[in-house]
Amino acid sequence: MTASSRTVAVGGDHPYQIHIGPGLLAQGELLAQAIRGRHVLLVSDDTVAPLYLEGVRAALLAARPDLKTSQHIIPAGEASKTLDNFSATITALAALGATRDACVLALGGGVVGDLGGFAAACWMRGVDCVQLPTSLLAMVDSSVGGKTAVDIPQGKNLVGAFHPPRAVIADTAALRSLPVRELRAGLAEVIKYGAIRDPLFFQWLQAEREALLAADDTALAQAIARSCEHKAEIVERDPLEKGERALLNLGHTFGHAIETAQGYGAPGNDNLNHGEAVAVGMVLAARLSAALGMAEAADTDALRDLLAAYGLPVTIPAGLEAEALLAHMRLDKKNIAGRLRLVLWRGIGKAEVVPDVDEAAVLEVLRQG
Ligand code: GLY
Repeated sequence: MTASSRTVAVGGDHPYQIHIGPGLLAQGELLAQAIRGRHVLLVSDDTVAPLYLEGVRAALLAARPDLKTSQHIIPAGEASKTLDNFSATITALAALGATRDACVLALGGGVVGDLGGFAAACWMRGVDCVQLPTSLLAMVDSSVGGKTAVDIPQGKNLVGAFHPPRAVIADTAALRSLPVRELRAGLAEVIKYGAIRDPLFFQWLQAEREALLAADDTALAQAIARSCEHKAEIVERDPLEKGERALLNLGHTFGHAIETAQGYGAPGNDNLNHGEAVAVGMVLAARLSAALGMAEAADTDALRDLLAAYGLPVTIPAGLEAEALLAHMRLDKKNIAGRLRLVLWRGIGKAEVVPDVDEAAVLEVLRQG
C-alpha cells in the first residue's frame, strides 16, 4: 500500500474491504489476496482493457503463478449490459473450466461491474467477484454494495441479484485518463451523498469544485473515501434494500426513466449517461419535494446550482415526453402494490422514502421539464 492509500471496511454478513489509492492495480499481492481458487476470469470493456488488463494479469500472475486466467471483453457503453452479454460471460466461465472457488475480476466502470458481478452471482450459484473500478462513478457507487444486474428494453437493472464483492480495489491513478464528462458523471453520485445525508460534505463539495474538476488527486481521494464511508455504513445495515438503502436512489427513479426513454444508446451519441441522468433526477426529486410542501425551494436551488456548477445537466433533455417517463417510473423496483414510491427530501442532507406519491404531482414536475 502507498502512503496515500486508504481502506474502508464494509461490515455485515459478508464483510469486505474497499482499497482506494494510486497504483493499486499494479499491486499483485493485494490483487492475489482476494483470490481463493485457481480460476480467474477478467471481465472488461474495449476501452479499459487495452489500458489496464495485461498489467493486472501480469501483477496477479507474478504473485500467484499457479492461476489459470482468461478474459472476456465487451464493447464499452450501457448498451452492452444485456442478457446476451451475460450469457457470453457465463460461456467464458464455462470455457475456463471455472470451479466454485473461481473469481471474476470486473475491471472497468459500472457496466462491467454490474455485468461481471451478475455473472459471478449466477455461475454455479455464486462465485467470488472482485471489483476493480476504473471510473469515478464505479468507485463511489456501483462497485460497492453488491448490486449486480443487466438491463432489458423495459427498464434498467430489471434482471439481477445482490452479490457482495469479495473486495473492491479502486486505483485512483485510473481517473487521470478519465474523460471529463465521465468525471462529472461520477461527481453527480458524490454530490448525491451530500444531498441525502451530509450537509457538511455538500458544503465541502461547493468549496472544492475547482480541485475536483481538475482531477486533483488529494481532493478526489477524499471525495471517494467519504462517499465509500457513507455507502459502507448504509449497505452494512441494509444490504438487501429493505429500508434505508433506498435513500441511495435519490434521483434514480427519474434518472432511470430518462435513460430507458432514451434507449441506453451507443457511445458517442448525445444521450445522457447514468450520472448525468441522476443529476437531472435529483433536481426533479427536489422540485417534487418542494411542490409537495416537504422542502424549501431554496434547497432545490442550491442543489441545482451545485450540479450546474459541476457542468452537469439539470433539466430533462428535449424530446422526452412526460407521460412516457411516468410510464417507465411505474416499473421501478422500489414501487409497492402499483404505487409510486420515491426518494424525496426535506432539504439538503435529509432524504426520505415516500410511499404512494401522487402521480399527478409527478406528471406536473415532468411536464415542467
Ligand atoms: N446505487 C444504489 C445502491 O447501490 O443501492
